[in-house]
Amino acid sequence: SNARALSDRLLAWYDRDRRILPWRAAPGEQADAYRVWLSEVMLQQTTVAAVIPYFNTFLTRWPTVEALAAAPVEEVMHAWAGLGYYARARNLHQCAKTVTEWRGGHFPEDEDSLRRLPGIGDYTAAAIASIAFGHRAVVVDGNVERVMARLFAVTDPLPGAKARLKALAGELTPSERAGDYAQAVMDLGATLCSPRNPACGLCPWRESCAALAQGLEATLPARTPK
Ligand code: ADE
Repeated sequence: SNARALSDRLLAWYDRDRRILPWRAAPGEQADAYRVWLSEVMLQQTTVAAVIPYFNTFLTRWPTVEALAAAPVEEVMHAWAGLGYYARARNLHQCAKTVTEWRGGHFPEDEDSLRRLPGIGDYTAAAIASIAFGHRAVVVDGNVERVMARLFAVTDPLPGAKARLKALAGELTPSERAGDYAQAVMDLGATLCSPRNPACGLCPWRESCAALAQGLEATLPARTPK
């Protein structure tokens, strides 16, 4: 199918050009749920470059979810200083305690159970279910919205177009390698399919991109003026 051809092309690009990030597993290996959770919570509202040193510090100091749960909350807040949005740090610690005390240190695998944990919303639940456990969850952040708006030339503005963009993202998400696929779309949005000057000449989807065909690549997604 066309969806399969698109996801295959993107995964081939990811296998060649993916970013090496400290929370990512080696090719073919399953990522550790604790690392995936910690990185995805840190990446809410914070860039990859800013997160990397914090992620490494946390992992050295608290290598497991049980270790993080056992830390005094003040120490966790102190280690978080500089990342901002401090409710995230409080929820992080609370989530570590819940997973340790109620689930024997194991994160649940499905999106609904993940969403019941402190600090885990729709995006983070889908990211953990797919990246850590390989489930076919539809992972949508701002990068994915931009890539979908361009690939399918969706001209309706955000935020109204969110549901449509999520549905399109869902149609493309493969059941095999769902976690790699989710991270590949995010990498594409963060590197080539950037907001201002997209590098369409290098894009694995350039031949299928409706926005590029119509000269709309630098103007999508549209946004309702505030
Ligand atoms: N942004 C948030 N999570 C990410 C991930 N796992 N890979 C790349 N970019 C991301």
